[in-house]
Amino acid sequence: MLGALLERSRARTALDLFTGTTRVAQAFKATGAEVTAVDTTRYASTLAGCYIATDAETVDRRALQEAIDSLNRLPGRAGYVTETFCVQSRFFQPHNGERIDAVRDAIEADYGGSALEPVLVTSLLEAADRVDSTTGVQMAYVKQWAPRSFRPLELRVPELLPGPGHAVRGDACAVVGGLGEFDVAYLDPPYNQHRYEANYHIWETLVAWDAPTHYGVACKRTEIREGPRSAFNSRRTILDSLAQVVRDVRAAVVVLSYNDESWIGLDALVEMCAVHGHVEVLTFPSNRYVGARIGIHNPAGERVGTVGRLRNVEYVLVAGDRAQVRRMVAPWRGPTSAAQAAS
Ligand SMILES: C[S@@+](CC[C@H](N)C(=O)[O-])C[C@H]1O[C@@H](n2cnc3c(N)ncnc32)[C@H](O)[C@@H]1O
Repeated sequence: MLGALLERSRARTALDLFTGTTRVAQAFKATGAEVTAVDTTRYASTLAGCYIATDAETVDRRALQEAIDSLNRLPGRAGYVTETFCVQSRFFQPHNGERIDAVRDAIEADYGGSALEPVLVTSLLEAADRVDSTTGVQMAYVKQWAPRSFRPLELRVPELLPGPGHAVRGDACAVVGGLGEFDVAYLDPPYNQHRYEANYHIWETLVAWDAPTHYGVACKRTEIREGPRSAFNSRRTILDSLAQVVRDVRAAVVVLSYNDESWIGLDALVEMCAVHGHVEVLTFPSNRYVGARIGIHNPAGERVGTVGRLRNVEYVLVAGDRAQVRRMVAPWRGPTSAAQAAS
C-alpha cells in the first residue's frame, strides 16, 4: 500500500527515516525514486547498503554470483556464533552455526570494505534467518528445534534494484536536518519500549563481527543492556522527539505510520503533522505482532498468562499540500478504509 501511495505522489526523491528491514524503502526505490534510508541499527544500515545504496546496474553480477557460490562451498569452522548461539543458546543447529562462522570470517577477510560487503553480509543475514530456531524475533529461541533449523544454510544473491540510493546509520533526531530535501518522507518510528537492536541482536553481531560479551538466556550483546536507548523507546521522550523529527524533516509530503496501541494519541499525531499543511488519516485494521498471537510463555516454553487483543488499528497520516495529499490518498478513501480528513 505504501509503495502505491508513493507512486501516486510521483516523487523523484524519498526518505525512509526509520527504515528497519528496508521493505518500504525498497518499495519506494522500485517506483524509480532516489531513496535515502536511515536507521540507528547496524543491520538496517547493512540491508540499506545492499538494497538501497547498491545500484543493480553497476554491480558485476558474475563476480557477485561467484562470491556467493564460493561462500556456499566453504566448510564450517566453529567460532563465536557456534559457541554463543549453538552451545550457550540454541538459535542455530551447530552444522549451520559453523557455516555462519566460516562464511562471515571469509566475507571479512576477502570483501571487508568493498562494495560487495553489504550485499554479501545481507545474503548471510537472510540465509541465517531462514534456518534459525525462533518465532521471528531473536529475543528467544524455541524449546524444540524449529523444522527449518535442520535445513542447510544457503546464501542466495539478493534481489538488487536499479538506481542510486543512500544508506545512513544514525539517530533520526540528530541527522534529520542535514539530509536535504525530499519529495516524500516516510516515518515509521518505534511505538513502544521494544528495542529493535535487542529483537535482532544476532543480526547486529553478524554485521559488527566483534565477538561481544553477552548476557541472559538469549546471549544479547552487553551494549544493549548498557548502551543508550532510542528516545522513541521511552514514553517520557517519544512525544517531543517525534514532534521534533516531524517538524525538522524537509519534505513536500510527510507520511507517518503509527497505531492505536502506542503512547501518542491520534490527535497529537495530527497536530504535529499539521506543520506540513493539510493532513489526512488512513486507518487499517491489522493483526498484532507475532508474540501477541503466539501468547505469553515462561522460559520453559510453557504458556502462561493471557494474550491481549489480537487486532489493532494502523494509522497512516499523510501531510502536505492539500491537492497532492488528496490525490495520494484517493484510492483508500471510502467505506473499507474509513479514511478521515483531519483538517
Ligand atoms: C517500526 S520499525 C520500522 C520498520 C520499517 N518500516 C520496516 O519496514 O521494516 C522502527 C525502526 O526505527 C529504528 N529506530 C529506533 N530509534 C531510532 C532513531 N532514534 N533514529 C533512527 N532510527 C531509529 C529501529 O531500529 C527500527 O528499525
